[in-house]
Amino acid sequence: MSSDSKRLPRVNLPSDVRRDTLAVREGLPPSQWGENSEALFLTSSFVHPDAATAAARFANEEEAFVYSRFSNPTVTMMERRLAALEGTEACIGTASGMGAILLLVLGLLKSGDHVICSRSVFGSTIKLLQGEFGKFGVQTSFVSQTDASEWRDAVKPNTKLLFAETPSNPLTEVCDIAALAQIARDAGALLVVDNCFCSPALQQPVAFGADIVMHSGTKYLDGQGRVIAGALCASNAIVNDKLVPAMRSAGVSLSPFNAWVVLKGLETLSIRMQAQSARALVMAQWLEEQPMIERVYHPSLRSHPQHALAMAQQSGQGGAVCSFIVKGGRAAAFAVIDATRICSITANLGDTKTTITHPASTSHGRLTEEQRLAAGITQGMVRLAVGLDDVEDLKTDIARGLAQLS
Ligand SMILES: Cc1ncc(COP(=O)(O)O)c(C=O)c1O
Repeated sequence: MSSDSKRLPRVNLPSDVRRDTLAVREGLPPSQWGENSEALFLTSSFVHPDAATAAARFANEEEAFVYSRFSNPTVTMMERRLAALEGTEACIGTASGMGAILLLVLGLLKSGDHVICSRSVFGSTIKLLQGEFGKFGVQTSFVSQTDASEWRDAVKPNTKLLFAETPSNPLTEVCDIAALAQIARDAGALLVVDNCFCSPALQQPVAFGADIVMHSGTKYLDGQGRVIAGALCASNAIVNDKLVPAMRSAGVSLSPFNAWVVLKGLETLSIRMQAQSARALVMAQWLEEQPMIERVYHPSLRSHPQHALAMAQQSGQGGAVCSFIVKGGRAAAFAVIDATRICSITANLGDTKTTITHPASTSHGRLTEEQRLAAGITQGMVRLAVGLDDVEDLKTDIARGLAQLS
């Protein structure tokens, strides 16, 4: 048997097709039935023609599907498509975004290793790194999202990983991926970027030197708020040699059904991100004009402290999330949220339905007030994750609550 026949086949596409084409076609060749839309393989295991072939497949001498804890055709299609969009050699799907970080640490770190992480990452990421991994001897230093010198100063001889999320949730603070990649290289460490807010449609962290891209597929990759999913995109050496074996043992697997939903979501990712990002900018500019609003955060606004960096790093787009501080603290923020009739009151984001949330009491509610203030999250803050609703309807929805305050 030739070595090519022991590898999974590729989709028959010209080698120079562009990203939009890959977004709808990369994956695996169709099955013997010639389906045009990718099949959902709901099966826990796969049958082998004979015992010797089964042995070769279990020993990784032949690439084939074995058991859906670590290999399934629908999951592979999603992984290949997302890797193509992120510009990485490989990708591994995980049960959730947090599952992706769990797999990352299981696969790459050991007790005694040190991580540097932005203070402004998602609240559960801080809990997982500090609380859970701390119990197993992985120590994390938390540093500024925007001041790269703090990252350099935090480097220790045992630093193995730098973890950033950009733009951050909910303040949309942007970190300089290229600067952090340089610090990681100098330290002999790897840079991981949570690319949840921009998705590869707007930002490809590896193009700026990141080693690993982490995703909560729950957000824009699915894009319609249906499933929980996650992924890590990186080189073959990282994915196949480190993460796949950890997945095989730990089983934080992406279900084929959820993989299929994300796979189909990737087909419309680019046009959704462009449309939602444009609507978010309209909303951010309008919010800036409202007298009862103290401050608005969106990377496309000229008032955003990292506006120029964001435009260079994010294909000239701000993304679909904008946050604002209402004058009057928590009570005023709750009044604005409660007056909406269109926006969905939920902490999720990345949906075609616009969502509104109070970060201090929901997504960041498990942090102490001190940690929240260090991350710049005040009680008056409201986060709007703009979907595909008509912006005029959204303005009316927010204006109703603001009118009660003035
Ligand atoms: C930026 C970011 N990273 C990671 C996660 C975790 O993803 P999941 O909910 O899929 O576990 C979230 C979830 O809200 C998030 O917003």
